[in-house]
Amino acid sequence: MNTALITGASQGLGRELARGLARRGTKVVLVARGRAALTEAVDELRSEGLQAHGITADVGQVDPARLLGQAAALVGSLDLLVHNASTLGPTPLRTLLDTDEEALQRVLDVNLLAPFRLTRAAAGAMALRGAGTVLFVSSDAAIEAYPTWGAYSVSKAAADHLARVWAEELPALRFLAVDPGEMDTAMHAAALPDADPARLARPRDVAARILTLLDSGARGRVAA
Ligand SMILES: NC(=O)c1ccc[n+]([C@@H]2O[C@H](COP(=O)([O-])OP(=O)(O)OC[C@H]3O[C@@H](n4cnc5c(N)ncnc54)[C@H](OP(=O)(O)O)[C@@H]3O)[C@@H](O)[C@H]2O)c1
Repeated sequence: MNTALITGASQGLGRELARGLARRGTKVVLVARGRAALTEAVDELRSEGLQAHGITADVGQVDPARLLGQAAALVGSLDLLVHNASTLGPTPLRTLLDTDEEALQRVLDVNLLAPFRLTRAAAGAMALRGAGTVLFVSSDAAIEAYPTWGAYSVSKAAADHLARVWAEELPALRFLAVDPGEMDTAMHAAALPDADPARLARPRDVAARILTLLDSGARGRVAA
């Protein structure tokens, strides 16, 4: 893959996916909201001589055509789009009875509508070229019903299904939804602050497994 855009790439799994891809020669565009962490992530890759660019954006609010236009100007047409940015919603996590509509809407904006809008904006060009891969980072919460994970899990379940429908509608493209498993990241710490980090996977190891899945030609919902 020559080019990739990874959302949520300033830390955690997204940063490791960007690093792994860039080390294989992919020109990567990293997207996140916080400028400082994003710049640090991009500079780290560039210090290795890799081709990396950062775009500061909130995927829940950005104009997708504008974001993809910026990315194309930096690296050319996209071979890979990774929907990794995600929000849990308010923490501590709360039951659905305690979840207000605005909080649910925000989770859906970031975890579901952003991948929908970005895929819709990217898929036309990919379909014209007859190739392109769209990777959704999923969760076991897309399958299991865990108390207090309602908004997040509804968004992840819907995003998985979005990937399935896109795959049926655009067979020339490859759609994957990958469950990365539990990882030692800021998101995990925010959700489950008492978890023992030693029992969690390292995002770098998970990213390596996801890159192997990409190489394998895997499609559909898979575990990393
Ligand atoms: N960690 C786990 O155990 C676990 C388990 C299952 C699934 N997952 C999934 O794995 C993916 C990566 O999670 P992670 O644990 O690596 O998360 P993380 O360490 O919290 O990193 C999240 C990244 O996304 C960015 N981000 C968050 N909201 C954004 C927004 N609205 N627009 C643009 N960028 C945004 C963050 O930067 P800014 O805050 O600066 O924007 C950051 O770079 C997510 O899809 C998550 O649901 C994680």
